[in-house]
Amino acid sequence: MKTLTITRPDDWHTHVRNGALLKTVLPDTAKQFARAIIMPNLKPPVTTVAQALIYRDEILQAVPVDMDFTPLMTLYLTGTTSEADIKLAAESDAVVAFKLYPAGATTNSDAGVANIKAIYPALSALEKYDLPLLIHGEVTDEHCDIFDRERLFIETHLNDIVKNFPALRIVLEHVTTNEAVQFVSASANTIAATITPQHLLFNRNALLAGGIRPHYYCLPILKREQHRLALVAAATSGNPKFFLGTDSAPHLSTLKETACGCAGCYSAHAAIELYAEAFERADALDQLEGFASFYGADFYRLPRNITTVTLEKQSWIVPSAYGAGDSTITPLKAGETLSWKLR
Ligand code: DOR
Ligand code: ZN
Repeated sequence: MKTLTITRPDDWHTHVRNGALLKTVLPDTAKQFARAIIMPNLKPPVTTVAQALIYRDEILQAVPVDMDFTPLMTLYLTGTTSEADIKLAAESDAVVAFKLYPAGATTNSDAGVANIKAIYPALSALEKYDLPLLIHGEVTDEHCDIFDRERLFIETHLNDIVKNFPALRIVLEHVTTNEAVQFVSASANTIAATITPQHLLFNRNALLAGGIRPHYYCLPILKREQHRLALVAAATSGNPKFFLGTDSAPHLSTLKETACGCAGCYSAHAAIELYAEAFERADALDQLEGFASFYGADFYRLPRNITTVTLEKQSWIVPSAYGAGDSTITPLKAGETLSWKLR
């Protein structure tokens, strides 16, 4: 059987929620990834080191006994985050970054930042204490076409942030456009990006052609094919600015299959297999290890993992749903065939 063995990967962007949902989804992340950046958009958001420590404990409690997994915590940047908050975070071993959500951009972003210029003092403190800033890069102007929101964020905000804080390390999360790929590629080495499996595998037809498919709805939204191709080229290029971040974002099936469904694709059930599929289609399986296991660790200045995982070339059908209490979570590619399987 054809196999592929790579250094154990990390997920540099995931949502594992809390409570019962956390217990359901966390084993999927822990079975494949050694570490993951945990997004802080809970209700209420994780804004302090004390809250992050409590959340980290809850996550560690949900790791199955036979698995070894380290959650890397982030704090949610708000209009009132102070330099003292940032200093405390920099001194904490648990917190590795701050996340900037423009207010209203996505799930649980109401507490996010309404006026980006007004948080420049906080960005200056992040630069000073050398803590990375993770950005959901979309403008939230309701008059802006949803397919243009990422491009306009770069033009309106990101250019200025990068110019004003040249030493600030920034990850533009879940990039979805050719413009984002070009921006990150042309920037200094302080600027990197994560790429999700859904944005490598699908364009917006998956969401909208021949019927509306809510399980392909995430933010930033899937774009045209030309953008998907730019993302595949970036991910498979060997450029260390681009690395794995699933943005796995579980919502109960009932909350997605409704008149106003939540944004988020659940991909943790088969994340590394989904990426393997995308890399194989691009004839670039040899680039998977760098993207999945090396470049993110290098950017965050953490050691690369030492152990390995093995994928087998083997067809399997993704379950149509995973149980979550009385409800279910519908995974990415539910009921469809994947050609790689984690051993
Ligand atoms: O689709 C998304 N879902 N995008 C995000 O930025 C947040 C996420 C979530 O938390 O559900
Ligand atoms: Zn996310």
